[in-house]
Formats: sequence, structure tokens, C-alpha cells
Amino acid sequence: MNNGKDSAVRVSVGLGERAYDILIGPDLMPRVGAEIAARLPGTRAAVVTDENVAAAHLAALEESLRDADVECATIRLPPGERSKSFDALQETVDAVLAARLERRDTIVALGGGVVGDLAGFVAGIVRRGMNFVQVPTSLLAQVDSSVGGKTGINTSRGKNLVGVFHQPKLVLADTSVLDTLPLREFRAGYAEVVKYGLIDRPDFFAWLEGNWQQVFAGGEARVEAIAQSCRAKAEIVERDEHESGERALLNLGHTFGHALEAATGYDGARLVHGEGVAIGMVLVHRFSARLNLASPDDAIRVEAHLREIGLPTRPEHIPGDLPDAETLLAYIAQDKKVMRGALTFILTRGIGHSFVARDVPSSEVLSFLKESLRP
Ligand code: GLY
Repeated sequence: MNNGKDSAVRVSVGLGERAYDILIGPDLMPRVGAEIAARLPGTRAAVVTDENVAAAHLAALEESLRDADVECATIRLPPGERSKSFDALQETVDAVLAARLERRDTIVALGGGVVGDLAGFVAGIVRRGMNFVQVPTSLLAQVDSSVGGKTGINTSRGKNLVGVFHQPKLVLADTSVLDTLPLREFRAGYAEVVKYGLIDRPDFFAWLEGNWQQVFAGGEARVEAIAQSCRAKAEIVERDEHESGERALLNLGHTFGHALEAATGYDGARLVHGEGVAIGMVLVHRFSARLNLASPDDAIRVEAHLREIGLPTRPEHIPGDLPDAETLLAYIAQDKKVMRGALTFILTRGIGHSFVARDVPSSEVLSFLKESLRP
């Protein structure tokens, strides 16, 4: 039950003068205006959202801003990954300038990862940096993309290749908005929750094994899972904001996952990002076992949990044909985690003991992929 202001959990991201709070809890939307006004007195706002999210949540957000006397303009984008483009960037920048917003004014992202990444990039570059607030409406955005300051767009040469680091001033994760997410989307976001347990929180992974049904149902367990995820991410970002080292741990499962996404032509009907991450995390645990770094039992345990919640765990679970192992390796080599030709992977010594491995021999990856693609 929502008891108003006290029901929210606060997670702080300690980045010195760029420190900010993440507020997590049910029914937070009516508080957004007051929380912004308290931190950024006198600010005006531009809400960036997409048509689908606008239909469900924009009226509540606008009312909250009005109640707090925060003047606001609204910028609506078409839903979907195509809004992370130079065209959408240009249109959004133009709309912000047309609304005569100044540097001390605020871009508010209301939506999932696409809206957050684009709106954050706009906030990072217009007038050399405006205030930015994230109101994430998908599980994936609440536990990952809204936290940590990565912003950007896709290019024809790859995803997320153009962008800036620009931290928000505040993240408000209203856990009630997740009640209406399609189950497939919730499951895909949940893969990123599991990721934090696998990186460095074995107790959290064990807690998820026992409590995932309550996380899916909503209520306190959901708030707890999101808060733990945000804490885990905040700690890593505090130590390595610009990904010169350990922030790469947040890419656990993503190297294989991105290759599978690319191999399906980013066709969301076949594979969405979190599903690719789920398969990727199982592959990482199996690959680590093959390299004698971890016990095969860990891979079995990770796969059992992801399968129990209904996520795909093997390449063959992706509908339609996949390319051969050589082609998948070429996608991996194109990935941005390649430094001077050497493959960088996040590997593991067991559940909750992941590490960044540079110089992973591509011959090992290739023979593992050949084995994994066998029907
Ligand atoms: N999603 C990975 C990161 O924020 O670094």
C-alpha cells in the first residue's frame, strides 16, 4: 500500500558535485513536479516522451508539474528504436530551442531506454548542458539505462555509437507504472536485474531465486529488487563513471547478446535486448566453465532460474535461422568492446564473481560458439 512520501526508497549516486538521488516506489508520478521544484527551484521543463507512454502517463506527469508551478513544454516522439537517430535528435533539439528553454531549465525523460538515451543526449548538448531528470517507465530503464549517465543515439554503423556522459539530477522510478508492462517486456528487464546478482551480489541472486514471483507480482519485493539493482549499478558507476575499467562489468552477457541481436537484424519479434542478455549470461557462464574458470554447476543454476521465469536461455530458443559461428564471431569483433584487435569479455569465476577479461583468444570463442550452435 502507498503511504505517500515515505513509501519511496532512496538510493544515492555519490558522484561529488554531480551526485543525485534515485527515488523508487509505487505511485510516485504525482510527486515528480514537487521533487523537481525542490531540487531545481525556478526551473522550467520540456518533457520528452513517446506516443505510447504519453497515452498512459503524460497527463499525470503534466498535472504534477502544474501543481508544483513548473512550466512545461511537451515533445512526443514515435515509439521504437528508430527514435534514437540523428533525425529525432535534430527535431528534439529544435523543439527545446523553440520552447526557449535555458541552460538552467530541465529536460524530463518520460519513457523507456530509447526516450531516456535520446532526451539525455539532448540535455547533454543543448546550451552545452541542461538539467536532466529521468522518469523511467520500463523495468529495463528503471534498473539500468536511467542510472549512470550514458546517453546517445544509434548510427548506421552500430548502436549507441554517438553520445555523451551526462548524469541526471534525479531519477524517479514509479514502480506502479510497471503493472501495465507486457509480460515479455517485464521478463526482458528482469534479465538485467539478474545481471547484478551475477556480477558481484551472489546473495541477491539467491534472493531472486526465492522471490522472483513476488517481484513479478509487484509490491515491496519489486521495490526491493529495483532498489538493489540501482544500488549495485550506483556503486560501480561511482568507482568508474566513464568506463575506463570496471564499469564494463555492467556488460555481462552483452557481448554474446549484442551479437545475437545483430544476427536477428534487431527484429524485436524474434529477440529483444533483455532476451539476448539472458542467453548471453548463460553463454558466459558456460564459456567460463569451458575455460576452467568456473564450475559448470553455476551455468546450470543460472540457466534454471532464467528458464523458470520464462526467458530464452539458448541460441536455439530464438525463432528462425541464425548465422554460423564465424558470422557471430564477426559481430562480436565489431562490438565496441574490442581494443586493438583483442576480444574483451566479461567472464566469471562463479555466480557473483565476474571480471573483465581482456585478450580472450578468438579461436576459443569460435570453438565455443560452434559447440553452442549445435542443435
Ligand atoms: N548499461 C551499461 C552501463 O550503463 O554502463
